[in-house]
Formats: sequence, structure tokens, C-alpha cells
Amino acid sequence: MDRIFTRDWDKPQGHLLSVYEEAGGYGALKKALSMTREAVMGEVKAGNLRGRGGAGFPAGVKWGFMAKDDGGPRYLCINADEGEPGTFKDRYIMERSPHLMLEGAAITSFAINAHACYIYIRGEFYSAARRVREAIDEAVKAGHLGKNIHGSGFDLDIHVHMGAGAYVCGEESALIESIEGKPGKPRSRPPFPAAVGLFNRPTIVNNVETIAAVPSIIERGGAWYAALGTPGNGGTKLYCVSGHVKKPGIFELPMGTPLREIIFTHAGGMRGAAPLKAVIPGGSSTPVLTPQEIDVKMDFDGLKAVGSMLGSAATVVFDDTACMVRSLARLAHFYAHESCGQCTPCREGTHWMAKIVDRIESGKGRAGDIDLLDDVASSIMGNTICPLGDAAAMPVSGFLKKFRVEFEEHVTTGRCRFPPQALAPVKTDRAWV
Ligand SMILES: Cc1cc2nc3c(=O)[nH]c(=O)nc-3n(C[C@H](O)[C@H](O)[C@H](O)COP(=O)(O)O)c2cc1C
Repeated sequence: MDRIFTRDWDKPQGHLLSVYEEAGGYGALKKALSMTREAVMGEVKAGNLRGRGGAGFPAGVKWGFMAKDDGGPRYLCINADEGEPGTFKDRYIMERSPHLMLEGAAITSFAINAHACYIYIRGEFYSAARRVREAIDEAVKAGHLGKNIHGSGFDLDIHVHMGAGAYVCGEESALIESIEGKPGKPRSRPPFPAAVGLFNRPTIVNNVETIAAVPSIIERGGAWYAALGTPGNGGTKLYCVSGHVKKPGIFELPMGTPLREIIFTHAGGMRGAAPLKAVIPGGSSTPVLTPQEIDVKMDFDGLKAVGSMLGSAATVVFDDTACMVRSLARLAHFYAHESCGQCTPCREGTHWMAKIVDRIESGKGRAGDIDLLDDVASSIMGNTICPLGDAAAMPVSGFLKKFRVEFEEHVTTGRCRFPPQALAPVKTDRAWV
């Protein structure tokens, strides 16, 4: 299989410009600069590249929504906030292949005619930010970024902006507010960022992995890229697998690889004798699946068909020793902590849900608590400015739908069958495959 993201990850000093150029790096940028903007966009559309930040919106289509060029500033923002629990791919791209992302940023900026690009990096990612800054310096010195790139007349400045580690700042309009120096509170839409975004100018926000896929599409063509995946879901995907498997890590595989194969072949199967109990397929906000549902294809359409989402492809595996009530309590506290507080249903509802799950988990659950929990979750869904409310409510509804028996057992017996346990240390020689 052609490796797009992980090609240089095993090479010593694989993050350096010299290594990247040796493998043909920045050749796609030179090619793009000799094409028309429409042709670049056309290849990305033909490649069926769908946004890797969670929603899976087709990247080329989004670029096409950018407001008409009026000669004023236009921006590209790269979302490197990577806040969804279970996700750990963008930081690896930035640490190990920063030039792949920068080349993608330059091609994308050319396609949308933006001359400034902001990379919004999660506050905790010091080493990733350092690598990206060093890579920008290398690329500017080599003429891949900056003024008159490769004599094309196209200029591009790339800026690194560090966040402060707030999950909500990964939401694109909160990210824009944060870059502008304001508290990271999502904006009401419309207008969408493609019309009114950063500094009230047309802006495209794309995930790191989305942008890092662009050079390969320009280099080898949209048709080639589309054929790597499934219909409507082009390319390869970085799947992040964590939890009760033998070999947790990042796996670059064709889009649409079955979940069963990811868990039992690539991640080495279950860590011990306890069988599989549940899988969160695409990051903590995506509805949980049971062992009977793991033959699903891990692409945007496959997971939608079984009532879940690919999200950021952060697959969290639970074996039969896990308590689903305690697991949900952990998630509910995360969302309550991360709500920005702007919308009442999310501000009040996330804390209310966390309190009810805590009550059930501690054996003090009341008759009616489970229905109340379900009711609070459905009252948040669709009633907030940004999808953080949905992200908090979906795991609650999903856990109750698939594992209601466990919640009922906690309420009726006041006890948990699954004692807390320490996680076994992870034994792995590398984090990606
Ligand atoms: C609460 C919340 C957090 C989000 N966090 C991230 C994130 O950390 N990284 C990311 O790329 N997208 C995140 N998103 C999705 C972004 O809003 C946006 O859809 C994405 O960056 C667009 O890029 P894409 O089209 O390449 O997927 C988040 C959305 C929400 C509602």
C-alpha cells in the first residue's frame, strides 16, 4: 500500500527538509504553481478528499465555497488543536512530517488565493510547534514559502499560533476567535467562515491530516487518490487505536478498512483473555458500537450507516473488564469541563449529565435517573450554537442505547461488577505502523 503520511516516519531525521526533498518533497507545490487554481481544486475534488477533522466534508467542495476574490485578504487556518479524546495523529504529522503539512498548506493557499496561513496548534504540543517553526524557517530559506515562491509570483506567509488547550477551540469558529485574541467561543452561523471568517475575511479551516493529504493528490492525481479508498471516501487514513488492545498506535490504512481488521490484525487483538465489549470508533463523541457491529467499513459512510461516525478515527477499544457506567462518567466530566458556557443547554446540561452518571456510578442512582439522563442528552442535541453540545450528548445516548442493562444494574443493585483496575503498561516499540 502507498503510504502518504507515514512514508518518512521510520527514517532517521525524517522531519528534515533534506530528507523530504530527497523523496521528491515540494515537487507537488512546483506542479501546482504551474496549474490553474481551478485545476488544483478539481484534482482535490476528484480525489474525494474528505475533511479529517471530524465532519468529513469534501475539502475541494469547501474550498469552492470561498467568497469571490475582491482583492482583499483571504486566509487558510490549519486546525492542529487535536482535542477529541482518543485522537493522536496530527501531532505525529507535525513532529515527523512537518514539511508534508507545509507543502499542503502552500498548495491549498495557492488554490484559494490566500497569502497568509495560520496553524493553530494545541497549547500542550510544544515539540510539534517547535518542529513546525523550524520547518517553516527551512522552507522559507529554500524558497518553498515566503515571497515569489519558485518564481511564480505567489507569496505565502505561514504563522504558528499556539492555543491554550481548550477543546472548544478546535471548533472552527472558536478557533478563529482565539486567533483574533478573543475568548474561544463559537460564532453563530451563517455566515460561514468561507464567507466571513478570520478578521471578518473569507477563510478556510482544514484539519492537519486533510492538508497533509493534498501534495500526494497533486503529485499523482485525484483519480489515483480516490482509488486508494472506497467510493466517496478517497485516500488512506490515520487510524488511532487505544484501549484494551495488544498494540495500540497509529495505523495508516486504506480508507474503509474494516474495524475488525484494524482491531484484530493491525492492533494485535485484545490485550488478554477478556473478550471485546465495546468500541468507540471515531473519538469520544462518536456513538459506541458493540462487538456485533465491528464488520463496519471505517469510512464516513460506513459508520453513518450503523448510526455512528468516523469523526477523527480515534478508535477506543474496551474489553469485558470495563465498566460502561464509569467510562461514561469519565467522558461526561470531560465535556462538562470543556463547555464554553455560552449556550444554556450545553452549560447546564453537560454538568447535569455528569452529576447523574456519577450518582448511578457511585451506587446512589434513583429510579428514573436513566430516563432523565437520556432526556437531558436529547434536550441538548441540536440546541446549541456549536456541535460541542451534540458531542457531549451523543456518547450518553449511545451508551444508554447499547449498554442500558449495565446502568439499570447499577441502579437496582447499587453495586458495580467491574472493580477499578490499573491499566497494564503499554509494551510497544513504536507508536505507528
Ligand atoms: C467541539 C469541537 C471540537 C473540534 N475539535 C477539532 C480539532 O481538534 N481538530 C480539527 O481538525 N477539527 C475539530 N473540530 C471540527 C472543526 O470545527 C472543523 O470542522 C474542522 O477543523 C474542519 O476541517 P476538515 O474539513 O479538514 O475536517 C471540532 C469541532 C467541534 C464542534
